[in-house]
Amino acid sequence: MQHIQSYLDEHKDRFLNELIDLLRIPSVSADPAFKDNVIKTAHVIKDSLLSAGCDHVEICETEGFPIVYGEKIIDEKLPTILVYGHYDVQPADPVELWHSPPYEPVIKKTEIHPEGAIFARGACDDKGQMYMHVKAMEFMTKTQQLPCNVKFMIEGEEEVGSVNLSKFVKNNQEKLKNDVILISDTGMIAQDVPSITTGLRGLSYVEVEVTGPNRDLHSGLYGGAVANPINILTKMIASLHDEDNHITIPGFYDKVEDLSDAERAEMAKAPFSLKEYEKSIGINSVYGEKGYSTNERNSIRPTLDVNGIWGGYIGEGAKTVIASQAFAKISMRLVPNQDWEEITTLFKNHFESIAPAGVTVKVKPHHGGQGYVTPIDSIGYQAASKAYYDTFGKNPIPQRSGGSIPIVSLFEQELKSKTILMGFGLNSDAIHSPNEHFGVWNYFKGIETIPLFYKYFTELSK
Ligand code: BES
Ligand code: MN
Ligand code: MN
Repeated sequence: MQHIQSYLDEHKDRFLNELIDLLRIPSVSADPAFKDNVIKTAHVIKDSLLSAGCDHVEICETEGFPIVYGEKIIDEKLPTILVYGHYDVQPADPVELWHSPPYEPVIKKTEIHPEGAIFARGACDDKGQMYMHVKAMEFMTKTQQLPCNVKFMIEGEEEVGSVNLSKFVKNNQEKLKNDVILISDTGMIAQDVPSITTGLRGLSYVEVEVTGPNRDLHSGLYGGAVANPINILTKMIASLHDEDNHITIPGFYDKVEDLSDAERAEMAKAPFSLKEYEKSIGINSVYGEKGYSTNERNSIRPTLDVNGIWGGYIGEGAKTVIASQAFAKISMRLVPNQDWEEITTLFKNHFESIAPAGVTVKVKPHHGGQGYVTPIDSIGYQAASKAYYDTFGKNPIPQRSGGSIPIVSLFEQELKSKTILMGFGLNSDAIHSPNEHFGVWNYFKGIETIPLFYKYFTELSK
């Protein structure tokens, strides 16, 4: 039986080149200008699943972008792994901050990635990580080592909220039936610190609009006598945190689960250097909710952040004006037990209630999703842990992540199965930012580790 190492030695260059070709297609789901490219990417994924050995692959149309579904069922009595990933990417903006064009992948060495990293939008999130599964599948089928059934579900709308995938999952329970869901769309602590993500935060995303006078006004003629929507908006936003950086929305924390001291002590054992953290993002100090560590603030605690704010004159030079309207996009990261729709309502009611006379305020909910936690005593977690042990030579650390993959809690609700999040990216890989990249070493490490998950999951399921 051929070992993964010798298979990789033989096919390494092709595995890299296939990913590079995939990254050349700008599959930005948020921007209608990229529509054809998103659809084209779905077809490329379909072909890749067929060549990797799936018996049956289809493009499932939705009201939005298609879902690519593939399967290989070898024996109904064996367990079934459902692999989920996404082929859509975030917009590359601001493009001028990229050192090489976002859709012309290049491999460059970095301090963290001495073997080189592929720089391109989607390299890590999630084309590179998703494609590890396709190549692991190829290895298992071509060398007759696929130990169980596998289903692939690769969507094109993760970065815009997975609305159509939610419907697809609800309507295709039988087709998607599985024993465990496997996803690589998260990160690990460091190159030499493998970790399995055991939690994701939920999300409520809203847009707010503050309207004052019926037109933009001369800021001299009217200044001081009318409510300035931008002044008001920033004041309202500032009031959403108190001096300890707690969120002031009534009821916001009601369902937040407090971790026990023992759990917090366990979390604190994960290797972390505050100095390096600060240095890596160029800040002179961390900032956040009083009473919690940096790792707690960005994983087990809910947050509220402005993601964008605009209004008034932002062109060259100066224009004296009081804008008629001001806007902001606000995200709230939520923790398990907080219900995103309930939080959205709490936000809306509160934000509207604090609007002073002189302006009107509208809150438009965008999208959201629930958080997720998974226990570490499941067969899936144990199988992942053994797989990492084999390829990294050490046990992985369970880690609750601050990011969100809202569809994961829906999987649990609709398909009644647990998700194992085997991420191979690093926080420094700059996902969603300019110069996103994915380590070549990480890519191959993923391809090496995934088949072992299949093996151990099948063995432990007996
Ligand atoms: N893959 C990320 C989420 C992620 C990254 C989780 C790293 C944990 C570690 C995913 O593609 C993403 O960006 N999710 C969005 C939410 C979505 C509704 C747009 C997010 O977290 O902002
Ligand atoms: Mn992702
Ligand atoms: Mn993303």
